[in-house]
Amino acid sequence: MTMDKFIIQGGNRLEGTVAVSSSKNATLPIAVAAAILSDSVSIIYNVPRLQDVNSMCGVLEVLGAKTYLDEATLTIDPGPHDAYEAPYDLVRKMRASIYVLGPLVAKLGKARVSFPGGCAIGPRPVDLHLTGLEKLGANITIEHGYIVAEASKLKGADMSLRGPRGSSVGATGNVMMAATLAEGTTTISDAACEPEIVDLADMLNAMGADIEGGGTPIIKIHGVKELHGTEHIVIPDRIEAGTFMVAAAITRGDVLVKNALPHHLEAVTEKLTEAGVNINWQGEGAHVTVPDKLSAVDVRTSPFPGFPTDMQSQMMGLMSIVEGISVITENIYPDRFIHVSELNRMGANIRVEDSSAIIKGVEKFSSAPVMASDLRAGAVLVLAGLAAEGETVVSRVYHIDRGYEQIECKLASIGADIVRIP
Ligand code: UD1
Repeated sequence: MTMDKFIIQGGNRLEGTVAVSSSKNATLPIAVAAAILSDSVSIIYNVPRLQDVNSMCGVLEVLGAKTYLDEATLTIDPGPHDAYEAPYDLVRKMRASIYVLGPLVAKLGKARVSFPGGCAIGPRPVDLHLTGLEKLGANITIEHGYIVAEASKLKGADMSLRGPRGSSVGATGNVMMAATLAEGTTTISDAACEPEIVDLADMLNAMGADIEGGGTPIIKIHGVKELHGTEHIVIPDRIEAGTFMVAAAITRGDVLVKNALPHHLEAVTEKLTEAGVNINWQGEGAHVTVPDKLSAVDVRTSPFPGFPTDMQSQMMGLMSIVEGISVITENIYPDRFIHVSELNRMGANIRVEDSSAIIKGVEKFSSAPVMASDLRAGAVLVLAGLAAEGETVVSRVYHIDRGYEQIECKLASIGADIVRIP
């Protein structure tokens, strides 16, 4: 963990082409599938170079796999397959470590995974992961802060993975991975439809699994005896793409966001367009051009294909400096508003009421020293800094590095004045 800072001189209009890296949230479960469920080596291409990917490789190494990351190519050798414990020290660094739970119990009949705690965006329960695996026949107990799951052989079952806030990406991925090696057929209803689940299903099918319906609310998994290694190219990161689209908008720029995929970004495109941003989809990606005057729009986050919670803070940054009042309602993580106080320190006028933020547009941000407190809350501070008058210092950049590959270099390449200082 580094204590780097970003120093941003605001006011530059962003112009040029910026390429989006591959999806962090797709890479993490794909690496787990390759390391735990497979019997032979897999090669994953276009892996983003991010702290979270390193953390996941650390977890997989502890579980006996060998991982080799060369530039953007990750080779995973599943190794001897006998360790089944993901310790607290690793899981607390990255909640996505919970993805090893289902695969371990499916492959080894046993898993011991530290209970992930809450995080800066509020409580994050894992009950759906556990009830899903119980439905597959796992016996689950909690001891000393660890989830212990055991089953001599998982058996296919029908289940809904609907929680109080809709489908769960993590639970869908966890159960889908476990069910590939179960006896018989599993039907998940109310499954998450996120593109990262589709990419995981594609990877598993290439490994020899038999999954139908990835990307729809009903996923059918016919269990198979074993899975083998494969080669896979990870999908582009739709949240990074959306963040660059907002970066163009907030600086009234002219940017081609390369690798962005239209069907991954419909809700984001729709809201930006409603605000007045021009988005022109080309073969290479999204060409974003921006008039001087944008208007306020209301946004409600919801599971895919709705507006992603991971784009909520960035959209709030943009709405802070347009004319009018917008209401942003957070339906996935009702407490996910830690960025509000920092944005207000930069001159925004935002008030939170229950799970909504009411944003009264102001003319501009004014620079200030601010602190990133989680990944996306950090991203919006960089965006605000780009649009602010004067010098903004963003500290605790390690939160941003968890999910954005060299964001400062990419932004500088399209005209931002941003440097990293140790
Ligand atoms: C994933 C993403 C995260 C994104 C989130 C929602 C990864 C590594 N992370 O997180 O960036 O913000 O999807 O799009 O892919 N819930 C329960 N019980 C559970 C699990 C979840 O009630 O067992 C609730 C959560 O509290 C939340 C909602 O369901 O309100 C959605 O969470 P979920 O989709 O599971 O998020 P993650 O997979 O953790």
